[in-house]
Amino acid sequence: MKAIIITKPGDGSVLALQERAIPQPESGQILIRVRAAGVNRSDIHQRTGGYGTDPTGQIPGLEVAGIVEKCGPNASQWKIGDSVCALISGGGYAEYVAVDERHCLPVPATLTFAEAASLPETVLTVWSTAFQWGQLSAGENFLIHGGSSGIGVTAIQLAKAFGADVYATAGSDEKCAVCEQLGAVRCVNYKKEDFEQVLSSVPIDVILDMVGGDYTQKNLNLLAMDGRLMFINAMQGADSQIRIPTLMQKRITISGSMLKPRDADFKAKLTADVEKHVWPLVADGQFKPIVYRTFHLSEAAKAQELMESSDHIGKIILAVQ
Ligand SMILES: NC(=O)c1ccc[n+]([C@@H]2O[C@H](COP(=O)([O-])OP(=O)(O)OC[C@H]3O[C@@H](n4cnc5c(N)ncnc54)[C@H](OP(=O)(O)O)[C@@H]3O)[C@@H](O)[C@H]2O)c1
Repeated sequence: MKAIIITKPGDGSVLALQERAIPQPESGQILIRVRAAGVNRSDIHQRTGGYGTDPTGQIPGLEVAGIVEKCGPNASQWKIGDSVCALISGGGYAEYVAVDERHCLPVPATLTFAEAASLPETVLTVWSTAFQWGQLSAGENFLIHGGSSGIGVTAIQLAKAFGADVYATAGSDEKCAVCEQLGAVRCVNYKKEDFEQVLSSVPIDVILDMVGGDYTQKNLNLLAMDGRLMFINAMQGADSQIRIPTLMQKRITISGSMLKPRDADFKAKLTADVEKHVWPLVADGQFKPIVYRTFHLSEAAKAQELMESSDHIGKIILAVQ
């Protein structure tokens, strides 16, 4: 099969289309013939060696959509020919991938493979972090930084669908307009305005943050009593200085999580929860995948370059067949 290989840590030029053996599904796994694969920030971090391990020889890709080609021993949930999308821990930029069958969801009838491939990583991350861990609920105020990111467009739509009032930040007026069209009450262009000042009269219950750095104390200042600050990254800086009394006065909870290293059973339960709670919203059109651009698998470097530019709004996808 053809697959994109990280030939050494570095910029996009280290990605090469090469031949690899088709993986064989092990017990409890299915083999997916990949039709589309999602591109995520984490793929770039992996390519540059940012996770502290040498990525040489690895195939990136955390989510795919495609057709079940083969069922491994003890895999009984799906049958050959089913259309599925799946969360994977790597290997998505390829023509085939073997996955734990419990980490798959049916491709909704209304979606293309490209749209379906755009969902698993962001939907599972937002569901587990903002809703399960952060306990976001109807009637609460929710702030998502990076509102036009793949994560952001997902978080805005899900939070709105579940009855929260959504606020966002993004880096241009065009991005903010899209965030507001998707359901944000107000999106702040952080390059023009200080989000803390703009939102100072809104008591925020849950913040989903990927920025970190000097956003942290501003986030704490905006939080209401019993507010929750949930980190999924710290792109602006891993270290933050905070005023501890702010936490005490408002009983604030600060936490964070990473989906990729969670164990298979956790991901299986999370996938089942998402199928139960989120998939009906996809089916009835309340939640729409936002695919910004699709590249062919062989253009993976260009796709990652676009993501690094942050010019995109929503998800970037690789078409595989
Ligand atoms: N912990 C987890 O399990 C997990 C899982 C998935 C994703 N993530 C993280 O979530 C983030 C989004 O992932 P993605 O794949 O959706 O990537 P993406 O689409 O490339 O999103 C990154 C976004 O960050 C925004 N940004 C950068 N600096 C900002 C700032 N100072 N203020 C506000 N926004 C800023 C960019 O928007 P502007 O151009 O508007 O600045 C861009 O939209 C990444 O950091 C990723 O690592 C974490």
